Amino acid sequence: MDPQRVLSGMRPTGALHLGHYHGVLKNWVQLQQDYECLFFVADWHALTTHYEDPSGIQAHVWTMVIDWLAAGIDPSRATLFIQSRVPEHAELHLLLSMCTPLGWLERVPSFKDQQERLSDRDLSTYGFLGYPLLQAADILIYRAGRVPVGDDQVPHVELTREVARRFNHLFGRGPENEAPPILVEPQALLTKASRMPGLDGQKMSKSYHNTIAMREEPDSVSKKVRTMPTDPARVRKSDPGDPTRCPVYALHEVYTAEDTRQWVQTGCRSAGIGCLECKQPLIDAILAEQAVFRARAQPYEEDLDLVKGLVDQGCERARSLAQETMREVRGAMGLDFSDSKKG
Ligand code: TRP
Ligand code: SF4
Repeated sequence: MDPQRVLSGMRPTGALHLGHYHGVLKNWVQLQQDYECLFFVADWHALTTHYEDPSGIQAHVWTMVIDWLAAGIDPSRATLFIQSRVPEHAELHLLLSMCTPLGWLERVPSFKDQQERLSDRDLSTYGFLGYPLLQAADILIYRAGRVPVGDDQVPHVELTREVARRFNHLFGRGPENEAPPILVEPQALLTKASRMPGLDGQKMSKSYHNTIAMREEPDSVSKKVRTMPTDPARVRKSDPGDPTRCPVYALHEVYTAEDTRQWVQTGCRSAGIGCLECKQPLIDAILAEQAVFRARAQPYEEDLDLVKGLVDQGCERARSLAQETMREVRGAMGLDFSDSKKG
């Protein structure tokens, strides 16, 4: 058991936005200082909902890994890999599927939610039902003690714990034995609900079309912020406003310092500043953050082989960890045919 091992994954959905950075990646960057971290691209999970049109997945994988590197994920500290390059995940998924009651999967809240939310897609597939079990295999195969996830994913980690418990009960060494359990029950590391606001004040999300990409062109960023809606009560510059009703201020709270926010508070409420004036320090702060992303990404954008090389290394390392677990799992399930001489 290695409680210090952290594992998390992300589906390759395309260029990541500032919500991904402030909500997830900043946390990953922090974790890599203190824990052994494994971060992977869940390309099979992307297929569960986009199986009809997988064309984007491959490009999205590299874009996303570059975004991770741009955020400050350090490949010399964290292991970066692609799920489908470690086929042992699929083997463990299959073996776990033998002993996972259907009801457990049908009861996972995301199953019904997503089917309703994505009603334009046919999600009555076996792969979609099995999504959380594949996720359980992702986690258990590395004996990860901690899994940083958003609150929507907590039920998946809960399911993972139940699956591990059941597996150990069915196939584990008896409790009288001192040996550690074969599969380790993980803990969800709940990412502090950093609800990053988007351009319209709702949560930043691709489906709301209110995002700024991590490596978006500066001109486009400025334009997006300049055209952001403000407090609807401020029709004219002479109308006083209320920052608490303004999506621009919500972004100030993420990006600017206390004294700037004081200046906004006073200037907005007294109609002393205009909205464009108010937006400028925000634009500056976002562009400054993105300049760092772009600088980190540049060598990788110029030479994709660099990215592929470090992902190759990550896959190799992940695979050897996964193979270690699978040897024990196969043994416990009576599937150890690896060496005829050992009988
Ligand atoms: N389901 C996760 C998401 O949509 C991605 C994921 C797949 C994952 N396997 C995982 C996250 C294992 C943590 C651990 O965000
Ligand atoms: Fe919003 Fe700033 Fe305009 Fe006030 S001054 S309404 S906080 S953009």
